[in-house]
Amino acid sequence: MAKFGDPKDAVELQEMSWAEPATGQLLIRVRTAGAGFPDVMMTGGFYPLLDTPPFGLGTEAAGEVVAVPTGSRFSVGDQVLGITAFLEGWGGYADYAYLREGSTIRIPEGMTDEQAGGFPVGFRTAYAGLVERVPVQSGQTLLILGAAGSSGATALQLGKALGTTVIAVAGSREKLDFCARLGADHGLNHRTDDLTARIAEITDGRGVDVIYDPVGGDTATTAVKSLARNGHIAVIGLASGAFVTLDPMDMLLRNYSAAGVLALPNDDPETEAAVWSRLAELADKGAIATPVGQVYGFDEVPRLLTEQGAPGAGKSVVRVAS
Ligand SMILES: NC(=O)c1ccc[n+]([C@@H]2O[C@H](COP(=O)([O-])OP(=O)(O)OC[C@H]3O[C@@H](n4cnc5c(N)ncnc54)[C@H](OP(=O)(O)O)[C@@H]3O)[C@@H](O)[C@H]2O)c1
Repeated sequence: MAKFGDPKDAVELQEMSWAEPATGQLLIRVRTAGAGFPDVMMTGGFYPLLDTPPFGLGTEAAGEVVAVPTGSRFSVGDQVLGITAFLEGWGGYADYAYLREGSTIRIPEGMTDEQAGGFPVGFRTAYAGLVERVPVQSGQTLLILGAAGSSGATALQLGKALGTTVIAVAGSREKLDFCARLGADHGLNHRTDDLTARIAEITDGRGVDVIYDPVGGDTATTAVKSLARNGHIAVIGLASGAFVTLDPMDMLLRNYSAAGVLALPNDDPETEAAVWSRLAELADKGAIATPVGQVYGFDEVPRLLTEQGAPGAGKSVVRVAS
């Protein structure tokens, strides 16, 4: 990406060369790369961790390892998926990409290329939210906002795999059907349903134990009213354009808490490796699978960036090469 702005002006193809990967990275030939709202934020210049173009877009990718540093646990020829070195300016919408070795796994058996490219960020974020920061317990009720989106749909699956009852919130009948196919127990339309009344009905007035919130804004601020005593909200993002509004007095009086969630790797590499093993295991046994939505060609990245502002159901993926 050359400059911030409208995708059709901001994004351009550039000839690059890739040096041998540094320690802690792998170089892959990219087949697929996952998309999400962070791309929209990066293109528009409001992603908090990248403030100076030019940089390469694409936070996650899958493909074949073509170079590794000495001492790597991967080999040339391995088929892998992982989080790119996008924070260092090297994204996944490219012929080649650097992956963070600690955030990379071999592609589980039976996973398609599209599922592989769209796996890392959504599921690593859902794990950070629902296991590390706000651990959910089997039998609890989990409310997921933006439940048909990249973050929401992955959290929905992980939430089901962890034994929670999931209430999915999305903006259309089609998206709620999509959430139901992913295992949601209940579906609410934030455009037409009275969220507070419907959640009270579903939970017999008790409220939900955890809210997973990649959306923020009025929807999240309304949802917070339905948190049960001792509940928690995991603050993931602001797809609505604004974060949730929290009132400390209300938090105190109703005994709930909020946790910010950023899916960066753990400082301890073994702990981080264990997270990825668990995700690979869940994928292997079919408990989680990337909810692939629209698939774009490499030359369609500007269109993807425009459409990602109001995406359809599921995780958008770019097919870079066959
Ligand atoms: N913390 C982390 O580590 C982390 C990692 C990844 C992403 N994120 C953040 O999470 C946020 C979402 O990213 P994403 O990739 O999941 O986005 P996405 O795929 O575009 O999904 C966002 C969803 O939000 C819903 N939405 C938008 N405006 C809404 C509103 N006003 N009320 C209710 N729902 C609304 C849309 O669904 P409907 O059509 O159903 O309304 C859409 O499906 C971004 O802010 C991103 O930066 C954070």
